[in-house]
Amino acid sequence: MGDVMDWGMKNRLSRIIQKDGHTVMLAIDHGYFLGPTTGLEKPWKTIEPLVPYADCLMPTRGILRNCIPPDIDKPIVLRVSGGTSILNENLLHEGIIASIEDAIRLNVSGLAFSILVGAKYERDTLLTFSEICDMGQEYGIPVLAVTAVGREMVRDAKYLALASRIAAEIGAHMVKTYYCEGFEKVVEGCPVPIVIAGGKKIPERDALEMAYNAIQAGAAGVDMGRNIFQSSNPPAMIQAVRAVVHENATPDEAYEIFQQGGKE
Ligand code: 5RP
Repeated sequence: MGDVMDWGMKNRLSRIIQKDGHTVMLAIDHGYFLGPTTGLEKPWKTIEPLVPYADCLMPTRGILRNCIPPDIDKPIVLRVSGGTSILNENLLHEGIIASIEDAIRLNVSGLAFSILVGAKYERDTLLTFSEICDMGQEYGIPVLAVTAVGREMVRDAKYLALASRIAAEIGAHMVKTYYCEGFEKVVEGCPVPIVIAGGKKIPERDALEMAYNAIQAGAAGVDMGRNIFQSSNPPAMIQAVRAVVHENATPDEAYEIFQQGGKE
């Protein structure tokens, strides 16, 4: 049965990753370095119609406290890294921006922290990440490593497999990374579930194809933001993404759902 902490860890993980082994996480943390990102100027206005179709939300504590009603029944993966903005040349040299005590007070199901493998501040972010993993372990809260990629770095399978594996070796319970050609290699080399970020907004059909390819390559799901909330029809888009992740829908089937404005 495992001890109580083990139970808490597994319980929280099972709230994030659904019984089919997959998850649709809705990333809404962008403001922590981008400010009022297009689509998230009034967070709750955008998020409310999407909540029923998300398995999990990923905000910062500021958006959680101020914009998300406390009675929603969705697990929260709290962004706990930050400290630099888009205006800073050392963007992504992040530290801890929320304490474990506050995360517990907010009743979160997971902690998200960005690491910067292969860049100038690699060591700082990896060592701080290991502290977050220790905190998560102590209180039974899973940790999602976000493999941030610097502006000048290549997002290929070799690099993303390296970054994802390092995250898992240090103690991540889940990894968020980018989709790339040969994504199977990234998944094969990483012993914990992987979710993909959507990245910059691309046409809906392309984003659905990317999600489909990631799932076929073994990803557990998506932690997608801009390609959902910046879509011309966000509720339809998240339903289409959901069909890919949970129902094995092909890109064409999912795009049809999007074009019809959703499933119902
Ligand atoms: C940065 C992040 C983002 O804040 C966000 O979660 C990414 O989501 P998307 O790329 O799908 O908009 O993780 O590293």
